[in-house]
Amino acid sequence: MLRAMIQIEGNKPLRLGIAGLGTVGAATCKVIADNQDLLSARAGRAIEVVAVSARDKSKDRGVDLSGVDFCDDALALARHPDVDCVVELIGGDAGVARQLVEQAIANGKHVVSANKALVAKHGAALSAAADTAGVAFLFEAAVAGGIPILKTIREGLAANRFTQFAGILNGTCNFILTAMEREGRDFDDVLAEAQERGYAETPPDLDVDGWDAAHKLAIVTGLAFGVKLKMDAMHVEGIRRIAAQDMQFADEFGYRIRHLGITKQSEAGVMQAVYPAFVKQDSAFAGVQRVLNATYVEGDAIGSLFMMGPGAGGAATASSVVMDVVDLAAGRAAPSFGVASEKLKEAAFLDMTSHSGAYYLRLHVKDEDGVLADVTGLLREHSIGVERVLQDADEATQTAQIALITHLEKEVDIQAAIAALNQADYSINDVHMVRVAAI
Ligand code: HSE
Repeated sequence: MLRAMIQIEGNKPLRLGIAGLGTVGAATCKVIADNQDLLSARAGRAIEVVAVSARDKSKDRGVDLSGVDFCDDALALARHPDVDCVVELIGGDAGVARQLVEQAIANGKHVVSANKALVAKHGAALSAAADTAGVAFLFEAAVAGGIPILKTIREGLAANRFTQFAGILNGTCNFILTAMEREGRDFDDVLAEAQERGYAETPPDLDVDGWDAAHKLAIVTGLAFGVKLKMDAMHVEGIRRIAAQDMQFADEFGYRIRHLGITKQSEAGVMQAVYPAFVKQDSAFAGVQRVLNATYVEGDAIGSLFMMGPGAGGAATASSVVMDVVDLAAGRAAPSFGVASEKLKEAAFLDMTSHSGAYYLRLHVKDEDGVLADVTGLLREHSIGVERVLQDADEATQTAQIALITHLEKEVDIQAAIAALNQADYSINDVHMVRVAAI
């Protein structure tokens, strides 16, 4: 069915309608204007912004939009006679963004989008609609901002059968965790700074509760494993519960804490999860600081490949948006998820009860004789072995923090042990658990 860009005759310009002129939309217009000659040489045709849509026409966005048709209604772009490709930079998985993408595709227009929530929730259906209409639906900017991870998986690594992907997919979480790590500050304090700097949304729930990373991970799962996306089969944990004390213990154990999205495929099925994890201090993920993102993919031919770069920001995200546009203009737009939509498989998705690995546990206990022996005994009763232990006693309160790293264990055993430890009369607070990543 694909690819209708063949229908863009000869070297006629590819004409864009850009919906949303926020940070990314304005940066997209600027990149296209600044690099016009380069882009048309690479694409073999000119790329022109012919129409835009935004809430405020009068706002100065630092780009020259003279001669561009300004539409008050974004949906007008879906039926605009001069637009070949709608670039959707509004965001959100419902409302105007979804209507615009659906209507543009139905009207035979190509769509480039940066909308992770929309693709995560409706990507399979939109990809099928695009195939039916014979248009392209591309969304590189939806995952890891400026890192071209989707193109890398879909095309650069097309030879590979993938087994695992892991990524730092949310810049706000990484900014908060790495500031806590460097400066010994608490979560709430750093979150307030992230909001002041404009990194975290207000409210910050989508970022710090893990949903932004989860949307991005669902897209990678679909693409890497050729399966239909399933957002409701995803384990999602954010970073609110990580305390300054966990950072200290992680450091003493030789680890850093990063918020990871991990998706794996085995014979049993696909497991996708986002959670804060211990990573070794010499792992590539430990070196990812501030708002940067990182991606790691394992394939049978390549072995593994790691990329680090800006996961957000106007120009970096525009870099990915414009890459999709250039591919489209050059007539090399690939199917959205690497295969024709009808080839996407229904996967068996596994939950975290199938997970196994090492675990960090932190217990706040009464500082009494025999407590540590009782803790390790109780863990042994649940078949859990302890690799390392640290203890930090507070004489004033007669309490202690016990931190330990387990051997490789099953999540079901860990959860049962945690439930038992929480009932122990020496436990002051519930046990705090962080998984140790094996990458
Ligand atoms: N809120 C996102 C982040 C922006 O912090 O990474 C990019 O999707």
